[in-house]
Amino acid sequence: MPSSSRSAKDFFRPLAVGAPTPLTEVPARPSRAIHFFDPSNEKMAAKIPAMVGTVDVLLGNLEDAVKADNKVAAREGLVKIAQGTDFGPTQLWTRINALDSPWVLDDLTTLVPAIGDKLDVIMVPKVQGAEDIHYVDRLLAQLEAKAGLDRPILVHAILETARGVANVEEICGASPRMQGLSLGPADLAADRRMKTTRVGGGHPGYLVRQDPTKSSDGIEVGERATYQQDLWHYTIARMVDACAMHGIYPYYGPFGDIADEVACEDQFRNAFLLGCVGTWSLHPKQIAIANRVFSPSVEDIKHARRVVAAMGDGTGAVMLDGKMEDDASLKQCLVMVRLAEELAA
Ligand code: GLV
Ligand code: MG
Repeated sequence: MPSSSRSAKDFFRPLAVGAPTPLTEVPARPSRAIHFFDPSNEKMAAKIPAMVGTVDVLLGNLEDAVKADNKVAAREGLVKIAQGTDFGPTQLWTRINALDSPWVLDDLTTLVPAIGDKLDVIMVPKVQGAEDIHYVDRLLAQLEAKAGLDRPILVHAILETARGVANVEEICGASPRMQGLSLGPADLAADRRMKTTRVGGGHPGYLVRQDPTKSSDGIEVGERATYQQDLWHYTIARMVDACAMHGIYPYYGPFGDIADEVACEDQFRNAFLLGCVGTWSLHPKQIAIANRVFSPSVEDIKHARRVVAAMGDGTGAVMLDGKMEDDASLKQCLVMVRLAEELAA
């Protein structure tokens, strides 16, 4: 780590871990939407400065979706954009190439000296275990020391291999730089040999069917309703627990069907309700969806504040609108209130 004594945990605090943290602490920086752009695409890159302040995170993507022939242009494009832009309240992240690719060493040795003072988080794809994070951590420490940077660049891992999922707890705890985890549903589906061909989201064939309704003489009657299931529930729940255990942030990931805003919102909302703090945006219209979904609603905040007020010293039980509230429901309400305060800060 560089000479600074500040660690990753000084920059980001978990939102929902254990007993709620007092509301007076320094607010975390929101990261509801991590908006991906390809810095080698000049048209797209030209729009980035105007997006500052409209989204929590802008991420220059160097990995998948950038053609092999454009890897150098993407890296150089990111340096140019970062050097020429004041990011104000918006964080700047990058997704580097995979650790087994021919590009990643140049990604890190170019970006840290050139724009390390502007980069908040480096997203590392296809992380398999703690050893991958240790490697990035050590290399970053060397490059930061050489560049004289006085604040550590944080690390975010994408969970997109079966081995990564098996090692999720050790990945989360591998370094104080760990900021969070995202689900990588496309790579993970391929690695698991799932039978999907989409980038995130559901599948109409993954469903449960209502039991048959029978008439008095045993004949099946009526339609049997089907309900589509969330393909990602297990992995997101696992990710959320691992992140909570280590005090870092869980995120959903990409939703590739840009036209299907309804399904996108549903997928994001499931992740939010399960504990995720944000998601990726692959198109500007997904920013608005993410900002809406990953902010608690006015009604939820109002209710949470009523419970906090009714619970007085925070112990015991009270009845509110016919429902029992106690120490544990107070904790849930404080998570909501605190998130609202952090987003408003
Ligand atoms: C993202 O990188 C994914 O593989 O879904
Ligand atoms: Mg991927």
